[in-house]
Amino acid sequence: MDVLYIHRWDDETPTREMMKTLNGLVEDGKVHYLGASTLRPNAWKVAKANEIARAEGWEPFTVAQPRYNLVDREIEGDYLEMTRSYGIAVCPWSPLGQGFLTGKYTREDGLTGESRAAESSRFEESYLTEENFDVHDELDAVAEEVDATPAQTALAWLMHRDGVTAPIVGARTVEQLTENLEAAAIDLTDEQVDRLTEAKPDPYAGL
Ligand SMILES: NC(=O)c1ccc[n+]([C@@H]2O[C@H](COP(=O)([O-])OP(=O)(O)OC[C@H]3O[C@@H](n4cnc5c(N)ncnc54)[C@H](OP(=O)(O)O)[C@@H]3O)[C@@H](O)[C@H]2O)c1
Repeated sequence: MDVLYIHRWDDETPTREMMKTLNGLVEDGKVHYLGASTLRPNAWKVAKANEIARAEGWEPFTVAQPRYNLVDREIEGDYLEMTRSYGIAVCPWSPLGQGFLTGKYTREDGLTGESRAAESSRFEESYLTEENFDVHDELDAVAEEVDATPAQTALAWLMHRDGVTAPIVGARTVEQLTENLEAAAIDLTDEQVDRLTEAKPDPYAGL
């Protein structure tokens, strides 16, 4: 296996036994790299795991899989500082906010049509907010400037972020996949990246 991702980090993890077992899998050639996947940012746990590995000369985590996109920004700060400090690659999940950043939902119509999001009980309250639609307005503006779709532009922003290695592209159809893969060719200016970054208010601004 190329990368073995650990996803469930309970109250007890990481333990020395866990890191010893993972190191054994790498030493036996069953796994090439260790990945830290997570639903919530857990910077201190990954750091602790890698400190245990460092002290013992064992294999550390070298890739992380947290949520990150234009409207879900909780890994900025602590988590990204941790991955930079340990030289850990970052491959974000939900790079399009489960489809919110594709332009298919509007302030006026809300959740319409067939989509994975329509089946989620929490999507509407989590994503279809005034603050998120303000971010989407800036996304639409930059997308028009670079002659791309909102989805492509949102993925391009992620690929321009310091510390991000590559997003995990989610697609339900071949057309979506083809559209999304073209994001790799989009070159945003620093000014466009900054405008997109600043479209979501910094919760600590002015403190
Ligand atoms: N580690 C973790 O905890 C964790 C958690 C979640 C996911 N993941 C992984 O990360 C991957 C990506 O996450 P995600 O699926 O949430 O990613 P996402 O890119 O935020 O959302 C993907 C969804 O958006 C819609 N979409 C994608 N491209 C589109 C386009 N060009 N135009 C219109 N709609 C488009 C599709 O759903 P509709 O067409 O139905 O709207 C698609 O299923 C998953 O497949 C999974 O492997 C990991």
